[in-house]
Amino acid sequence: MTDLQADVLTADQIGIKQAAKILSKGGLVAFPTETVYGLGADACNSIAVARVYAAKGRPSFNPLIVHVADLECAKTYAQFNDTALKLASAFWPGPLTLVLPCAPDSPLSELVTAGLDSVAIRIPAHPIAQALLQQFDGPLAAPSANPSGRISPTQAAHVITDMHDRIEAILDGGTCKVGLESTILKVEDNQVSLLRSGGLSSEQIETFLGYSIMTPSDPKTPQSPGQLKSHYAPNSPVRLNVKTLQGAEILLGFGPECKVATLNLSPTGNLIEAAANLFSYLRKMDALSKGTIAVSPIPMSGLGVAINDRLKRAAAPRN
Ligand code: TXA
Ligand code: MG
Repeated sequence: MTDLQADVLTADQIGIKQAAKILSKGGLVAFPTETVYGLGADACNSIAVARVYAAKGRPSFNPLIVHVADLECAKTYAQFNDTALKLASAFWPGPLTLVLPCAPDSPLSELVTAGLDSVAIRIPAHPIAQALLQQFDGPLAAPSANPSGRISPTQAAHVITDMHDRIEAILDGGTCKVGLESTILKVEDNQVSLLRSGGLSSEQIETFLGYSIMTPSDPKTPQSPGQLKSHYAPNSPVRLNVKTLQGAEILLGFGPECKVATLNLSPTGNLIEAAANLFSYLRKMDALSKGTIAVSPIPMSGLGVAINDRLKRAAAPRN
């Protein structure tokens, strides 16, 4: 696929410094957390985040979890109400992810949140993850470090087998203790819903809160973003695979042949660049549009599959 060959870094001071340096240049580094190995990228760098989706071969832009070193840093990216603060102080650092409203003016790449106005955030407890976050001094987007549809990795060897030709480096931190992904809770007002069960049990959470949380079997629980057909829709209607504009349409283009585009996702036809621009350009097009947003055909290869999936949802009839 590429001529990349991941460096296996020993998780000492030198290795962690090296990993942070690679990340700050937009590289991808797998690192251990207490749950599973994460595939880390600078969460503010859209190209780096697009490369994460490409490396995983994810068929859609399911939003990623943002990992931070401490609560102060988390508050730069997410808004905490009292319930969220209580949960954070009880269970962080640890295997809990909170889905919270994005902070205003958050510098996170929109590709991390897949254009949603909420963000999934957690403080991992693993000492190597902690050291890396402190050295990097910023937020790391990190899904589990496995190709899409494969089992999450709990040892560096798993990551090396599956991902060695897709990432710059792996920090070897032995076996992950929890071995299950983090539990994901969405906190909206004072309602808490379980979006994914994981390393922290619902019983522990409910005992702490003193009340029941909403579970996926409850019809009022928010669905996971990947399942919603028109979740990411802009206000304007969207027409796909457009070669000729009609009426008041404006064109979101792709590739060198696209001369009349209002914005071009990638003038050179690079799918990683197109993915990195997708959410912010859709927002800009929505602000400019007085009618329909037309979108050029995007090839169905590599990240094109996820881009087309996202566009199909944007163009789907509204709920
Ligand atoms: O243990 C873990 O959580 C691991 C380690 C590396 O931290 N990470 C992980 O990330 O499992 P990932 O990308 O495989 O899972 C992220 C999940 C997805 O199911 C996604 O839909 C959900 O988090 N998610 C992310 N942002 C969300 C949001 N704004 N609203 C709802 N769900 C969100
Ligand atoms: Mg995963």
